Amino acid sequence: LRKNYEVIILKLGGSLLTDKNKAFSIRENVIENSINQIINYKKPLILIHGGGSFGHPLAKKYEISKGLNTSIENQVLGLSVTHEAMNKLNSLLINKFLEKKIPVIPFQPSSIFFKNYEKISTPPIGIIETALDIELLPILYGDIIFDAKGSFSIISGDKIIFELCKNLQRYKVSKVIFAIEKDGIFIRSNNKEEGNLKLVSEISYNELDNLKLANLGSKIDVTGGIRGKIDIIKRICKKNIPVQIINGMKEDFIMKALKSKDVI
Ligand code: IPE
Repeated sequence: LRKNYEVIILKLGGSLLTDKNKAFSIRENVIENSINQIINYKKPLILIHGGGSFGHPLAKKYEISKGLNTSIENQVLGLSVTHEAMNKLNSLLINKFLEKKIPVIPFQPSSIFFKNYEKISTPPIGIIETALDIELLPILYGDIIFDAKGSFSIISGDKIIFELCKNLQRYKVSKVIFAIEKDGIFIRSNNKEEGNLKLVSEISYNELDNLKLANLGSKIDVTGGIRGKIDIIKRICKKNIPVQIINGMKEDFIMKALKSKDVI
């Protein structure tokens, strides 16, 4: 059995894979290009993807992240539909890998993770490790999550990453890569020429709390936007795991990040 094997966790953000402005619309070229880069990396990898225009609008409509609320009409049906939308996006990706004869396996986060009084309890993630052992690419995604209090909410792809960082036993996460549709994290600057925005190229753990984040607003996001992401990044870094944010729209950034070559 493999022990202390390095694995990279890569998240393809929902707003990279889909067009946020149009329900259920995918960015065909971006998906194709991302997959080609991923299959070129022949080492242990766990792939996570977000919801974009598949998951967020439904989750928002039925207020899934706020939990069970009987005054919302058909909310439980909405829960089911939200899960299925994510499942569809996942199947779409799974099939693209299979068309290229790449062995992949989807894991439904809603059947793995369970929320127990604000803590997420995770059964041993041995299933994911065994998939890695036999060189299957595990793919997980933002999903709904059940709650021991008889309710539910959303578990974001970012949160899943943290749970994996915390719970993998035989594999050691060597880094987490977030491929998003922007160059990275922008802070406010006083330089008008730069549009009062500045891309941060490197941030140390201690600086994470004091970032003057630029407001690039994303309206459909039910899981906390960039603030939520920074919160998770902090928790991942605290485990001594480096985090990299890259622009997944760029032709070869995913491949370069996976192979530890320089990227912006
Ligand atoms: C959202 O997952 C999942 C649902 C809304 C059901 P994420 O929060 O990881 O998705 P993105 O990357 O922000 O789109």
